[in-house]
Amino acid sequence: MTAVIDPNAAPAVVPLPLLDLRSDTVTRPTAAMRRAMAAAEVGDDVLDGDPTTRRLEAVVAERLGKERALFFPSGSMANQAAIWVQSTPGTEILLDADAHIIHWEIAATAALCGVQVRPIRGATSVFRAPDLVAGIRAPSIHAVEPSMVCLENTHNGAGGAVTPLGALRELAEVARGLQLPVHLDGARLWNAAVASGTSLADFATCADTVMVSFSKGLGAPVGACLAGSEDVITRAHRARKRFGGGMRQSGILAAGALYGLEHHVDRLAEDHVAATYLAQLVDGIGGATVIRPDTNIVMIDLPRPCADDVVARAAAHGVRLSKWHNSRVRAVAHLDAPIGLIAEHGPKVAQALAEALA
Ligand SMILES: Cc1ncc(COP(=O)(O)O)c(C=O)c1O
Repeated sequence: MTAVIDPNAAPAVVPLPLLDLRSDTVTRPTAAMRRAMAAAEVGDDVLDGDPTTRRLEAVVAERLGKERALFFPSGSMANQAAIWVQSTPGTEILLDADAHIIHWEIAATAALCGVQVRPIRGATSVFRAPDLVAGIRAPSIHAVEPSMVCLENTHNGAGGAVTPLGALRELAEVARGLQLPVHLDGARLWNAAVASGTSLADFATCADTVMVSFSKGLGAPVGACLAGSEDVITRAHRARKRFGGGMRQSGILAAGALYGLEHHVDRLAEDHVAATYLAQLVDGIGGATVIRPDTNIVMIDLPRPCADDVVARAAAHGVRLSKWHNSRVRAVAHLDAPIGLIAEHGPKVAQALAEALA
């Protein structure tokens, strides 16, 4: 039987949860951000450049202290473009075992760039220079050669952990000692800068290329930038084209990113406070444990594999969490989940844990 679609029917209304803590990507552009987007001056960015996109790229390059930045539709594409231009097919790239690039970019490193990943497990949390040194293979005709090192700051899988500048510099020194280019996945580098007081540019000196995202803590709907030297970004521009990432009147999106940069960076400190508050609220309930968050991500480790149950019970109370794996759920503070809402509805997360772990 063919379904009959009534064109006059009211659109299905999906009820919003009271609090959506699944990710900082769920934010919706604010009214002011939408106005800035609607008013953006635009051109054809693929043909001869979009003025607002150019402005965004110049601002990002300046803040990161790099020669040039390039706007991408997503952080994943920018990460892969960085790897595509700086690694060599048939080699391996070294990165933290819990890196986003390993777990959430569906093997693009293999499928697009022709490299294998060498996951390095940190002795404590995110990998550090001694872990990297220990992970480098002795050169041999039988061993795959390394061609690149990728870092991530803040580190999503490690619960938004900040790698401090000193540790990042040591990692970069090891890589540079081996003549390996360094890419920094800085999807949440804004959070790292706000939490640590280190400037974006200081963090960026530790890497040849840096990806920063606008669609997470900054609240923009779409986009990321890749920054680096003129030469590397010129090549990344070709990669973006090859990956199908050329965008025409991209200024509408770039204006959202610019708005986020101007208005939503300093307020990230509030998200960090909210995350700490939530962590304290749920730590220990039913045997769950939480590492004190450095930034806006709260990883809740469960004493047994019941993440689906916790997520379902929290949703029934109106709070959405995400399952990280069977024994871990994630809650993220963001622009649309501010401290007030977390104070009001956070106890429902505690309730869901208590019920699931009773
Ligand atoms: C650390 C990190 N890197 C990269 C990305 C990918 O960004 P996008 O979703 O824009 O592709 C994410 C997304 O959540 C992330 O958390």
